[in-house]
Amino acid sequence: MDEQMRYFLVYCSPAGSTRHLAEVAAAELERLGNPCTLLAIGRRAAIEEARQRLAAGGGPLCLYLGTPVYSAHALPPVIEFIAGLPVAASAWAVPLVTWGGATSGVALYEMTAALAAKGYRPVGAAKVLAVHSLMWQAEQPLGAGHPDAADDELLRGLVREVALRLAAGGAAARLSPADLRCQPPAVFAQLQAASLELARQTLPPRVVDEELCTQCGTCAESCPVGAVSLEPFPVWGAACILCFNCMRECPAGAVQADLSPVHAYIRQRAATFAETPGSQVFLP
Ligand SMILES: Cc1cc2nc3c(=O)[nH]c(=O)nc-3n(C[C@H](O)[C@H](O)[C@H](O)COP(=O)(O)O)c2cc1C
Repeated sequence: MDEQMRYFLVYCSPAGSTRHLAEVAAAELERLGNPCTLLAIGRRAAIEEARQRLAAGGGPLCLYLGTPVYSAHALPPVIEFIAGLPVAASAWAVPLVTWGGATSGVALYEMTAALAAKGYRPVGAAKVLAVHSLMWQAEQPLGAGHPDAADDELLRGLVREVALRLAAGGAAARLSPADLRCQPPAVFAQLQAASLELARQTLPPRVVDEELCTQCGTCAESCPVGAVSLEPFPVWGAACILCFNCMRECPAGAVQADLSPVHAYIRQRAATFAETPGSQVFLP
């Protein structure tokens, strides 16, 4: 390849598992002599800035794009990021998802199709098992202990393989979205119909204990999409993605919800879908 490939690693990670993997991938790229730009997205301004960073400077680029699976799909900021990308002339993509052991859903399939529509040739992909971020209060949460050392190494292997294929020109390297269907057809259709909006209607409401709340603002600061405002107690706007960082991070325990029925529901979904393997890389 004549021109220097520019590497980007863009991710959204409310609870940190996807960020961990993004950092592992970035370190491996760095070790291979491919410095990359690591960008966290969530709020609108960060999404726009990431797009501008990609657009600034010409030449070929390779975009690693990471998201957790929420209600079987990629997170809204990641979907929004892709939707606003200009069509690229010389670009490759590596979609990455973390999932909490219930189902990896249709996230990889949808991201790959959306990136391909923007001219990004999918050169590899991975799903990685992670602790389920709605189960931090549960004993034995699904995905406990993940991503582990073996997951990290699996991802490093993908990074190395993608680098080799791109160094060879990348022409033969192209996954099709159909390669990324992790579910049997009947389940796939069911998961396509799942949505964060439906989850919003069924998840237990959060309430604020005004006796406990000190209005410290941790909930607003820890919200990856800027959906919490203090009026003077926390209020959630429409942009809320239901990550529950506000509740998990509240030092006073003032944001409360009973998630135990949700834990049972998630375990039941995990048993129904029985998706294996937990972590997997995909290459053309
Ligand atoms: C609202 C919500 C919905 C989720 N939906 C799913 C799902 O459909 N399938 C699954 O396996 N995990 C699901 N998870 C778990 C996350 O995908 C998983 O914990 C992920 O690794 C979190 O990434 P992060 O640590 O980067 O935020 C969900 C988590 C939340 C908060």
